[in-house]
Amino acid sequence: MTDASHSTPQRIGVPRETFPLEKRVATVPEVVEKLIKLGFEVVIESGAGEPAQFSDDSYRAAGASVVGSAAELWAAADIVLKVRGPSSEEVALIRPGTTIISFIWPAQHPELMQQLADKQATVLAMDCLPRTLSRAQKMDALTSTAGVSGYRAVIEAANAFGRYFNGQITAAGKVPPAKVFVAGAGVAGLAAIGTAANLGAIVRANDTRAEVADQVKSLGGEFIKVDYEEDGSGGGGYAKVMSEGFQAAQRQMYASQAKDADIIITTALIPGKPAPRLITEEMVKSMKPGSVIVDMAAEQGGNCELTVRDEAVVRHGVTIIGYTDLASRLAKQSSTLYATNLLRLIEELCKAKDGKAFVNMEDDAIRGLTVIKDGAITWPAPPLKTQPAPAPKPATAPAAAEKKSAHGHGSAGPLPAKTLAIIFAIAAVAFWFVGAYAPEAFLGHFTVFVLACFIGYMVVWNVTPALHTPLMSVTNAISSIIAIGALVQIASPAAGTDGRPDSLITWLAFAALVLTAINMFGGFAVTRRMLAMFRK
Ligand code: NAI
Repeated sequence: MTDASHSTPQRIGVPRETFPLEKRVATVPEVVEKLIKLGFEVVIESGAGEPAQFSDDSYRAAGASVVGSAAELWAAADIVLKVRGPSSEEVALIRPGTTIISFIWPAQHPELMQQLADKQATVLAMDCLPRTLSRAQKMDALTSTAGVSGYRAVIEAANAFGRYFNGQITAAGKVPPAKVFVAGAGVAGLAAIGTAANLGAIVRANDTRAEVADQVKSLGGEFIKVDYEEDGSGGGGYAKVMSEGFQAAQRQMYASQAKDADIIITTALIPGKPAPRLITEEMVKSMKPGSVIVDMAAEQGGNCELTVRDEAVVRHGVTIIGYTDLASRLAKQSSTLYATNLLRLIEELCKAKDGKAFVNMEDDAIRGLTVIKDGAITWPAPPLKTQPAPAPKPATAPAAAEKKSAHGHGSAGPLPAKTLAIIFAIAAVAFWFVGAYAPEAFLGHFTVFVLACFIGYMVVWNVTPALHTPLMSVTNAISSIIAIGALVQIASPAAGTDGRPDSLITWLAFAALVLTAINMFGGFAVTRRMLAMFRK
């Protein structure tokens, strides 16, 4: 794939998925057109899109060629796009030098990694994307898949539940709203919270990472805290295994939620570890008959003790759903999102739009994704050079402190003492000069001005940069003062040297009024748009 001497465009191949229950496909006709615009040729295995409702003809119409078998496809393709990692039959079909882009989960599949390396393949694993890089978000297939799964989990729950989600008052009687409890508020959990709230249910949620509380609220849920002080962040936005004390307190809280909830959706995962057991048999027994549990962690062992993988079972009157193919149950939607994530990746690999992909190992996002390069295993990638929010780790703390002092407390921190002393000395001389020579009337205004600057600085400086836009958009108090001042000047303008109203001041006041009006109404508009981002 990195072969720059290739004169013909590279061929992107998409085989039919062979994993049991997998209905997704790695590209869709709409995306095929865009891949062709990037200069590639596209080959699809006949029937690859059928389970996701994309016919061979729709791919042909988009410009792809369709081949009859997997063997033909793997023989023709320079780059293979897939959803699931290659099966052993597929590995046998790989030509040396092929590039494969799919989910791989290298930590869980060391043998597959070795087989792919033996084939001299280059492998980009969609599950290894550094998700916290904002530039990488358009390629984040884990997030798009989890969003679809969270939505589908609620639909599965609604299907198994014998009642409405929303409360209703009808001539036939009053129906209370369903109570949904979501355990784990990552991407899938948040999608489930939003969907259940939109259907009218009362939604409560819990997560070990306290920072998600606001996200839960913004989607219409209520965050239920465990009565135990411990932060669950394990770095990179993921969770860690909690202490025994926390787990005991959490079990107590979950036991009381189980008694009250009609539906429980569990999504709790810890990277590289079995899913935490959160719902015990006792809790299931305490639920009302007809209640539903959807265990989205079934693939990693399940959050509920009674979950049976890939099945919906009834235990103690409660339906427990352990499907692991939730995204595949909305195959058309999840295939479209996944295909778009892959398109964004291919765009990054082919910036020249010449139908040739180049794996640039200097690019943080591409480096993270590349788990095998030309037959050499390159996983795991080194930590990001610019970690956006590194979790504080005791082992690295002294190094960080050293760096901080070497850089004079970092660029965003307070100024070094020497610079501060010089600034204060200059300011003191300037103040003395003003005090000694300025007219008395000016001094009063000047004092107020200096104090206002100081207070403004103290108020704004410590605000997190991410909050500057909302802060600025609600600074209407300051704008109002300017507006009042300008109105006063326009109503009774100050006299000029000739005793007549000074038209310059009137015009300046008018300009101030116009500008401050833009700031005020613009502020309201920005605030509205920002709030709308969190509302449906
Ligand atoms: P995940 O699928 O690994 O875990 C799901 C959730 O379960 C997490 O929120 C986790 O805190 C929670 N959990 C783990 N153990 C638990 C326990 N014992 N009790 C209750 N909850 C427990 O996580 P996912 O959905 O992949 O996302 C992880 C994080 O990554 C999230 O904070 C998400 O917002 C963040 N993320 C950041 C992105 C970015 O910065 N661009 C993109 C995508 C995700």
